[in-house]
Amino acid sequence: MKHEYKLGGTVLLVDNVSVTIGDKPIIENVTMEEHDVIRDGHNQGQMIAVVGRSGRGKSTLFKAITGLRKPTKGRILIPSDEANKPIEVKEGDVGFVDQKYTLFRHLTLYNQLKLAAQKGSTPESEIHGRVMELLSKWGLEKAKDQYPGHCSGGQRQRAAILSQILSSGYFLVLDEPFSGLDVGNVEDVKSMLRLVNASHELSTIIFSTHDIELAVELADKIYVIGFPSEDKQIGTIVSAFDLKTLGLAWQSYGKEHIDLVHDIKKKILAS
Ligand SMILES: Nc1ncnc2c1ncn2[C@@H]1O[C@H](COP(=O)(O)OP(=O)(O)OP(=O)(O)O)[C@@H](O)[C@H]1O
Ligand SMILES: [Mg+2]
Repeated sequence: MKHEYKLGGTVLLVDNVSVTIGDKPIIENVTMEEHDVIRDGHNQGQMIAVVGRSGRGKSTLFKAITGLRKPTKGRILIPSDEANKPIEVKEGDVGFVDQKYTLFRHLTLYNQLKLAAQKGSTPESEIHGRVMELLSKWGLEKAKDQYPGHCSGGQRQRAAILSQILSSGYFLVLDEPFSGLDVGNVEDVKSMLRLVNASHELSTIIFSTHDIELAVELADKIYVIGFPSEDKQIGTIVSAFDLKTLGLAWQSYGKEHIDLVHDIKKKILAS
């Protein structure tokens, strides 16, 4: 059964963005427009996957989307508090979990999250409560007084994701959140992303992965970033697949999903 949905306002506009590092163009003319996905009876967030071969510019694009690298050309707009007045993204607006799950080495998991949750004049007791609740929900309660160096990869990663959720509102960008995880941790991170996604109508998660099956299982939109031709080695969006219009979003994984995986892999290999 195909699920009904509507599209609301724009939650992200990557408007013809190019990034050059030194004198080397890395990505060129990347355009992505994401809308609020609305489904009756659901707090339906957006889940967007970016796939493509190594070196095609996924991490570079993510640094631009999170305001860590200014585009050489084009702009990246997100909604602001004032309705109908999008703003150019700047560092800190969008949560970013990088490929290495960066955490502060000298802070315990509890203190990392407390620091991330501190904004404005939120009272200490409220912050403590929120952090403890999340630690328990995400299975990190026992590890709360450990330093990142003494945590497993999966624990570090969950802490990194949590700290971004706490510090950055409804936008979350994750660069290869599934790499290097065991089967159980992959399932954990999948359910956490779904949880975050359903936590707010505007929740927007963008992730990259080399696991195309996972992308098709989780995302409602998938972009392939690649080189347009052999003599043009600059990353750009070569294909986009909207699982909502294909009737494959929010469905259990079936034969049509497998067919889509094949199609996407073909596009990736050709770019
Ligand atoms: N700071 C930098 N200085 C110079 N070149 C860079 C820099 N960062 C990235 N690049 C180059 O940009 C290209 C794209 O790199 P990027 O890390 O964005 O690729 P990716 O798609 O994320 O790859 P992977 O799948 O391996 O993570 C590569 O050729 C890389 O060498
Ligand atoms: Mg990368």
